[in-house]
Amino acid sequence: MLHGKHVLLIIAGGIAAFKALDLIRRLRERGVKVTPVMTRAAHEFVTPLSVSALAGRAVFSDLFDLTAEAEMGHIELSRAADLVVVAPATADLMAKMATGQADDLASTLLMATDKRVLIAPAMNVRMWQHPATVRNLAVLHGDGILSVGPDDGTMACGEFGPGRMSEVPDIIAAIAAAFGHGPLAGRHVLVTSGPTHEPIDPVRYIANRSSGAQGTALARALLDLGARVTFVTGPAAVPPPQGADVIRVQTAREMLSAVQGALPADAAVFAAAVADWHVTGASDQKIKKTGDGMPTLTFAENPDILATVSRMTTGRPALVVGFAAETQDVIAHATAKRQRKGCDWIVANDVSPATGIMGGAENAVTIITDDGTEEWPRAPKQAVARDLAAKIAGALG
Ligand code: CTP
Repeated sequence: MLHGKHVLLIIAGGIAAFKALDLIRRLRERGVKVTPVMTRAAHEFVTPLSVSALAGRAVFSDLFDLTAEAEMGHIELSRAADLVVVAPATADLMAKMATGQADDLASTLLMATDKRVLIAPAMNVRMWQHPATVRNLAVLHGDGILSVGPDDGTMACGEFGPGRMSEVPDIIAAIAAAFGHGPLAGRHVLVTSGPTHEPIDPVRYIANRSSGAQGTALARALLDLGARVTFVTGPAAVPPPQGADVIRVQTAREMLSAVQGALPADAAVFAAAVADWHVTGASDQKIKKTGDGMPTLTFAENPDILATVSRMTTGRPALVVGFAAETQDVIAHATAKRQRKGCDWIVANDVSPATGIMGGAENAVTIITDDGTEEWPRAPKQAVARDLAAKIAGALG
């Protein structure tokens, strides 16, 4: 499906530049024409000779190369391709892109292009988490630039965390999705995520420890496969995925009405950690200490959003997926929960504190379906998300 496409591949200077060689090879195997551009720093990591040998074309590196300029001007070069891919995208190049600098060939092409741009960031974990990079990525997403990864993992520098460039198959999947060819192209998937906050008074609320990381990673993975994603989120610790239609809510009751308003959908995934109860008659004013003893809170049950959607008689999504966060007898409770709520799949996980899963970077899930149970090995939440998104794409056919 990528056959005949033309990708302008910008290779910036980072350790992950070696993966660009494999990316070129895999793209060419799929009939993609690759025009390579290297920054000066990239020359320190891979040789232009290897890059041009694999691409089957000369490498462009210099903004003021008169021979290259005579053959194809840099403006033309920036527009000849169908898609611009930056892999690896270093912190430095992302900063240049975010601020609109154009002081070398790569940054000038990125400013001059009229094509979509996909970046595959790769850098040290501290650099990835630095507020400047977080800010720059938000600016780039706001400018409509697509991104894939980075992954969690051990890095060449010996540290562990997010920052490792996505693996080549994931970059190719993102390229396919950028061309509107993902397996979920034309599909609408609804995802709930994060905790809910149930007010006690204007300054206090009842909440839970969900960070929203798993729901966000899942929404991103679904977007990467080409889906249109509506992302209904409570007040989460992690920012929502770019490219999704984001609906922010506070309470379970608001989440239910946002979900109902966002339907119809081909699939709905309920990753939110919804509060089971809300405080009845939450106070309009801050509750004060009066000296007459403790205030008494009374509770009422929240609507069960997953069960409500699962039991819809008309307009029910073809696939409804729930999560089951348990601290004991995980499979038994999750299996019962699937029956009780009427959803198609349950993604069960053990959230007892010793696992470090709730609010952590990894997840270990068991998928319960009509066909039985599938236990998946513990993995970064992004990896679990990718596998789950692929399974959803498979089920929707
Ligand atoms: N869920 C929901 N609405 C609720 C409660 C839960 O949509 N009011 C969804 C969650 O998003 C999740 C699934 O139901 O997909 C299971 O959530 P969980 O908190 O594990 O289950 P509960 O229904 O709260 O069951 P229990 O408290 O008995 O474990």
